[in-house]
Amino acid sequence: MKRIRIAVFPVAGLGTRFLPATKAMPKEMLPVVDKPLIQYAVEEAVAAGFTELVFVTGRNKRAIEDHFDRVPELELDLEAKNKVALLDSVRNVLPSHVNCVYTRQPTALGLGHAVLCAAPIVGDEPFAVLLADDMIDAPAPVIGEMAKVAREFGGSVLALQKIPPSSTRQYGIVSGSPLARGVLKLNGMVEKPDPADAPSDMAVVGRYILDPRIFDCLRRTQPGVGGEIQLTDAIAALLRGNAVFGYEYEGTRYDCGSKAGFYQATMEIGRKYHGLGERNA
Ligand code: UTP
Repeated sequence: MKRIRIAVFPVAGLGTRFLPATKAMPKEMLPVVDKPLIQYAVEEAVAAGFTELVFVTGRNKRAIEDHFDRVPELELDLEAKNKVALLDSVRNVLPSHVNCVYTRQPTALGLGHAVLCAAPIVGDEPFAVLLADDMIDAPAPVIGEMAKVAREFGGSVLALQKIPPSSTRQYGIVSGSPLARGVLKLNGMVEKPDPADAPSDMAVVGRYILDPRIFDCLRRTQPGVGGEIQLTDAIAALLRGNAVFGYEYEGTRYDCGSKAGFYQATMEIGRKYHGLGERNA
């Protein structure tokens, strides 16, 4: 399998759990300490070697495009004041070899529909999907480790996390059998099952390497849980006849789509990387 180049960032959701903060501002621009959520996800993809970044945006999401653009007047001002570190942080949000493409999801019909909106840009090659609200603090970029699994075994790869059985209603839950260290060969997947119906305690979190055949599955996918076109349902269809693997990543994931997860990320990332804590308050 050739190197996977394209990373898709679906950022068109309404972010209702963070209202009113997200009334006029994208959820993905909420900062954990000093960087917006989307920048953590983009940095993970860039560190893993992805060079083509596709953002599926919607109304109210202009700030994301602006964030990854240059701001000449701000750069001039910081340069004149010799604020070298700050200048570096705004100028080098993205390295120059990386390209960004923006497309729109006209209505927030669900994550699966958002991924389908990227189909004309992705074309017929495997690609990554990263959900910015799943922030993962890991020793190596998780999406890069998953791309290695995809290259080795040749198929789609989903990031997996073991969860308490009582939490199955919040996730897509997989079934499968162990193949290699940290790798499962999957044979089934259910979106948000009751604990009694869950096939395992392994949940899918927001990192995917997908075979382009997922687009045909998405075109056939009807609205599911919550009336949304679910990526999980399309992956369940892809599983019938195509190889899909699970990868139990190393690292700490923060569900920054929820207030509790966002708060925890801010506290722990602040302490670990910025020397922040009660004493500095
Ligand atoms: P979520 O379901 O967590 O995001 O989708 P949401 O719908 O914006 O949040 P709440 O539940 O209302 O608070 C996970 C990711 O998928 C994107 C979101 O932007 C988020 O990054 N998404 C979701 C889309 O791009 N389009 C959609 O229609 C739905």
